This record gives sequence, structure tokens and C-alpha cells, in this order.
Amino acid sequence: MSLAEVAPAVSLRGDLAVPGDKSISHRALLLAAIADGESDLRGLGISRDTLSTLEGVRALGVDVALDEDRVRVAGVGLRGLGVPSGPIDCGNAGTLMRLLPGILAGQQGRFELVGDESLSRRPLERIAEPLARMGAAVETEDGHAPLVVEGGPLEPIRYELPVASAQVKSCVLLAGLFASGGPTIVVEPVQTRDHTERLLDGAGVRVERKPREPRVWPAERLRPLDLDIPGDFSSAAPFITAATLVAGSELRLHGVGVNPTRTGFLTVLERMGARVSLFNRRTTGGEPVADLEVAAADLVATAVRPEEVPALVDELPLFALVAGLAHGVSSVSGAAELRVKESDRIETVKNVLRPLGIRIETTHDGFRVRGVPSRPKGGGMVDAAGDHRIGMLAAVAGLVSREGVRIEEAESVGVSFPDFFAMLESIAVR
Ligand code: S3P
Repeated sequence: MSLAEVAPAVSLRGDLAVPGDKSISHRALLLAAIADGESDLRGLGISRDTLSTLEGVRALGVDVALDEDRVRVAGVGLRGLGVPSGPIDCGNAGTLMRLLPGILAGQQGRFELVGDESLSRRPLERIAEPLARMGAAVETEDGHAPLVVEGGPLEPIRYELPVASAQVKSCVLLAGLFASGGPTIVVEPVQTRDHTERLLDGAGVRVERKPREPRVWPAERLRPLDLDIPGDFSSAAPFITAATLVAGSELRLHGVGVNPTRTGFLTVLERMGARVSLFNRRTTGGEPVADLEVAAADLVATAVRPEEVPALVDELPLFALVAGLAHGVSSVSGAAELRVKESDRIETVKNVLRPLGIRIETTHDGFRVRGVPSRPKGGGMVDAAGDHRIGMLAAVAGLVSREGVRIEEAESVGVSFPDFFAMLESIAVR
């Protein structure tokens, strides 16, 4: 599939369960690989990105058995990874490219990581610098992939993150497992997703989950994981958006991860007047989970502030659409990180919404939108720009539009959510 058509919907109705969380799936596979013994991971979010991690772990000498969305990983122990015969292909997966070097820094040997064209444009100095300070030898090509890391004895550090990034935090904390002599501490400007800390805790590692200053102590061994991975909030978000925007909609989403470091989009939507309720709250795999009920609502504009950005960073493209249909002028600031995602999301969001008549005014670190609270008149051809989150934004825009959209490079969506279009069609009333 390279071209997908999404027609306008009359409403969205039904029940859905989205696939397992991508951030947690990457982390669970990586930690299971270096645990002592067999891990059992259920509800893995299978996508091109997480398959890159699964294959990467195999290339490092770990046996992985995949049966639908259940995976058994025969962990080789904390320092047991082997040097592959060639480079490890991270594909499009930024999380793999940023987290794995933290683990490789504690192994014997020289490891090379490569990525696709988009990943090769994204910054890696942000992990190379702290890893080098801990004592690893890290080479990049001018701050980009290919990245070569050579493990060695590591020292603990106290690292102040220059940008709020869960990937960089996680990389440093993972290297801290191998850094003898004391705890490795990461100081964050704003709290970012804490899945790594929660999983390390579950693996029996001494970790302090202090907000904005997590710390990890060197480990002797990791306990294998026995985990049910919650549904991915970021994969639920396009459906939450569509059901909020299309009048008459009523949608239930089951088993969605609602870790507060991930659900900033809900906070912002509620402020705008959205009707999303959470029920059946429970804990699964050390993470808060709930069922969500969404009904359509009229929305008012809001400003997303810099300190709110990390908790909805992957949902900001969807926020642009929501803002485009709300009463008043909405804005986002302090989100320069959007420029170094799978695409420059400040520009690609503007481009994908323009054919629908939604005008985004961009700034260096965000955007402004004057909302028009009625179905966008436009539609037609839009480009996913090789970015899965832009592809999903385009599809939701098609549902809420009058003319529907045709999406170029729609296959990009498979990077995080291969069944997305089928699920969308299953709830769309036409
Ligand atoms: C992720 C962290 C975020 C997010 C990405 C996944 C993670 O990136 O945008 O999709 O799994 O840690 P940054 O750490 O670069 O903000």
C-alpha cells in the first residue's frame, strides 16, 4: 500500500483495543535480552519499529520466539551480548538507536548501528556525549548514524539533560547498570516518560524513580520479565481525536496505558472541553491502564506550554488538527524537538493540513492555529512524508473532512501501527 483513501465519516462507533505500547515493547525486548533467563512478554506492539528491535536483539545472539503478539526471550545475562557479523539495522526506530548503545557500552566488543534515511538525519550527539563521559568509545558521522560503540569499564555520572528526552535519559540509565562505584543520576528539565525506570524496577534493579531526577545503581543481574504490555496511548490518540471531532461519535478503547508521563494529550483535550472518561483503572506490567470512553464535543482553543510538551510530544500533530476545529486561537511553544522527529513535524503538520483549509502558522519551536469549528471543506491529496504519525494525522483529517483524503506514502503508518487503517474502517460509520 502506498496510497490510502479515507472518506469522511458520519460518526465513529464501537469498541477497540489498540496494540501494545511501542516505547514499552522496545524497552522490554532490550531488558529481556540481558536478563538472566527466559522472559515472557505478552501483548507486544508488533510493528516495523519493534521488529527492528527484535531482529537487533537476535543479531546480538539472543534467542527470541515470536508467536503472534507473545514473545519469549532467552536472556543471555547482563554482559552476555555477542558482536554481530554486520551492522545492526535500526530501520526507522529512534528508540532503538538511542537506547541500545547504553547497553552496548557495557559489553565486550565493537558494535555498529545503522538506520534508514530518516533516522540517519536525526541527532545522536545527545547520547554520544554522556556515554563518552561515562567511559565508552562512541563514534558517529558528524553526530549522525552510523554509530559505533565500543564497550569498556564505565563510571557513574550525574547527567543534566540539555533537552527533555526519554530516549537520552534511558540510554544513560541503561549504561548506569554497568557503571560501578555508585548511582548514575539523570536530571531532567521536565519529566519525560518513565517506562525504563518502571521496567528496571520490575527486573529487580535498584532504581529510584524520583521525578526529574531518577537514579539507577549498578546491577549484578536482571530478573527475567513476565509482562502484559498495555495498549499504546499514542496509537489510541488518533481514535480519541476522531471521536472527539466527528459529531455523534461514541467510542470505547480497552486496556490503554495511561501513565501520566504519556497522557498530556488528555489533559489538554479536557481543558478544551472534550468528553473522555477513564474507567476500570488497574495496573498491568507495572503501568497504569484504563478503559476510555470518548464522545464528540465542541472544543475551545488552548495554549500548550513548554513544560507540558514531553507528555504529549507524539500527539502534537493531532493537537494541530483539534486546534484547527476549536473556537479561537490555539498555540504550542517549547516544542523545537518536533523538528528532529521522524520528519520535521512542525513543517509536515502544516503541509498535511493545508489542503483541508487548516492554516498553521509555524514558529521555530511550535505553531499557532486559528480554529474554524466546522467540517473542513477541503480534502484531496496529502503526503504522509514518510512519517507514521503524519500518516495517522492525515487519516483522521480525512474522517473529519467533507471530501476525504488520499494519502501518499500511507505505508509509513506500519512503523508503529500496521493495522491502523483496518481498525479505523471498523469504527467509521458512513
Ligand atoms: C520515545 C521518546 C520520545 C518520543 C518517541 C519515543 C521513547 O522521543 O517522541 O516517539 O520511547 O523513549 P524523545 O526521547 O526524543 O523525546
